[in-house]
Amino acid sequence: MAKRFYVTTPIYYVSDVPHLGHAYTTIVCDALARYHRLRGHQTGFLTGTDEHGQKIARMAEERGMAPRAYADKFADAYSSTWKALEISNDDFIRTTDADHEAFVQELWRVLEQRGDIFLADYEGWYCVACEQFYTEKELEPGNHCPVHKKPVEKVKEQSYYFKLSKYQQPLLDHIAAHPEFIQPENRRNEVLAFIRSGLQDISVSRTTFQWGVPVPDRPGHVIYVWLDALSNYYSATRRKALAGMWDDDVEVVHMIGKEISRFHAVYWPAFLMSAGIRLPSTVFCHGWWTVDGEKMSKTAGNVVDPLKLSSDLGVDAFRYFVLREVPLGADGDFSHEALLTRYNAELANDLGNLLNRTLGMIEKYFPNRFLLGVETHELRAKAELAREELAKAMDAFQPSIALERIWKLVRECNAYVDQSAPWSASEERKREILANVHEALRFLSNLIDPFMPERAVEMRRQLGVVQSGWPAWNAGGDWHVEKGEPLFPRIDDDKKAELLARWVPKKDVPVEDPNQISYADFQRLDLRVGQVIAAEVVPKAKKLLKLSVDIGTGKRQVVAGIAETYQPADLVGKKVIFLANLKPATIRGVLSEGMILAAGEEQVVALSGLDRDAAPGTKVR
Ligand code: MSP
Repeated sequence: MAKRFYVTTPIYYVSDVPHLGHAYTTIVCDALARYHRLRGHQTGFLTGTDEHGQKIARMAEERGMAPRAYADKFADAYSSTWKALEISNDDFIRTTDADHEAFVQELWRVLEQRGDIFLADYEGWYCVACEQFYTEKELEPGNHCPVHKKPVEKVKEQSYYFKLSKYQQPLLDHIAAHPEFIQPENRRNEVLAFIRSGLQDISVSRTTFQWGVPVPDRPGHVIYVWLDALSNYYSATRRKALAGMWDDDVEVVHMIGKEISRFHAVYWPAFLMSAGIRLPSTVFCHGWWTVDGEKMSKTAGNVVDPLKLSSDLGVDAFRYFVLREVPLGADGDFSHEALLTRYNAELANDLGNLLNRTLGMIEKYFPNRFLLGVETHELRAKAELAREELAKAMDAFQPSIALERIWKLVRECNAYVDQSAPWSASEERKREILANVHEALRFLSNLIDPFMPERAVEMRRQLGVVQSGWPAWNAGGDWHVEKGEPLFPRIDDDKKAELLARWVPKKDVPVEDPNQISYADFQRLDLRVGQVIAAEVVPKAKKLLKLSVDIGTGKRQVVAGIAETYQPADLVGKKVIFLANLKPATIRGVLSEGMILAAGEEQVVALSGLDRDAAPGTKVR
């Protein structure tokens, strides 16, 4: 039987529109799926959205929307973005789909029948953004989530637990027997270290909100969002579009970002082991994109919009760049400059120009645009070697190496044209050379299909060929070429400046608020603890008292407008906050060398104080 291949993206939270990171994973999966289809493998490709849980419930509530309506909005944004990026998924699953919800409940019942679910009290820390429980030792100072760097929440409720601890050894055994299960190796080692540190049973139900799949027969409990979400990969295979994709012989690949490896490589396989279902073949954890060296975030204002770049530069150019720029598995940095540099050098020059000049010569030297069945063999070995090496790279989840390999062939073809100089060859030789390059280009158009499906079709249109599929070298043929617009028009300096201005957000210069002071300004205040040692009324000034205050370094005399609220006798011995570097002034003929801080506008209502004792002179900051 032909090989079968099933690839999945994570299902994305319906919390916002997709950005570069989401597009990346999905494009990688698309390239893998298209590659396998090209090879004639039966292929399934799934993506979708993760819609339940506290995070989405809260976001919807903050916007005054029902969670379902909120989810609809962003699920649509995902599916339409994927269409625009030529994503060829066979199905799109939403965790709010009724068949999925039914499956999650079925799975729950199976885990329960296995004796792997039990009820207990839960008390611990929860990060709503991660939808994850944390132990104290995993948290960062100030009880901050290690991923989001924000305070986690204390959760105390009754909860169903899953006996994860029971699967510690089976998981270790599985990973040892299947080195391909967690890739790349550094992620495998991380996961192994986590498992070896001792797996604790995990809480798999919540009672403090309702936006989720109900625990069967246990009113008030909803199933933990990750148990619900992870099940999507399997539940989708019960649908027609992906039927059979969880059978034993299928290569099942979960492509994910490295931050969710624990869920995919520990929790999910443990749930499957408990349910007696086969495990995925590979969980591949890719790295994270930063943008110009910074983490991508709304607050940083540097979120890369894949739709904007694709509509300005072409979808395939964007796809090419993200697949080529970073070896899958490594972290990468996105720069708009680098995108344009690769575009001009590799797409416009190397490939675009090869097609353009070849077709130009065919049209010039053979005005009827036919090459007429000439034998082609000169580039054959090079093309076939490229095909084999591309396959090796794709089978090892290395699209960047696959593209590098294709570009080696592109350069070999360019060198072939230069060296064989058809422009100065005989008519017969011209025909041979150009037929060879034409065939190499046809071959190339098939090799680039998984990565740049739209441009591949356009290439074939210009070459006058229709064949697509895993390429085999044709020793000869008749082609009628139709040179068109350049595949990748060159971007000149003016256009480049225009694009960069459109793409790269101007760093907002914060508008100065005249009421704000800097910390340095604040530090200029010499605030310290003062203790009132004497107080008396200022004659003929009914609001004023004259105080003598010990400020550690000596005594200060101040005039304070507090006589309507305090009697002199109330004040002696009181500790207050004292501003010691206020310019001295004479008030009603009395010298005042500082100020005590007090609350109140026209009339003082209370004096500043300290909630614990501190010696006069102690700095206040
Ligand atoms: N809903 C969960 C996944 C459940 S899967 C059963 C989730 N969703 S998410 O919307 O936050 O998407 C996370 C995924 O988006 C990452 O695992 C990765 O695939 C992709 N990326 C998001 N930001 C990214 C980068 N900055 N760089 C690369 N990919 C990243 O987690």
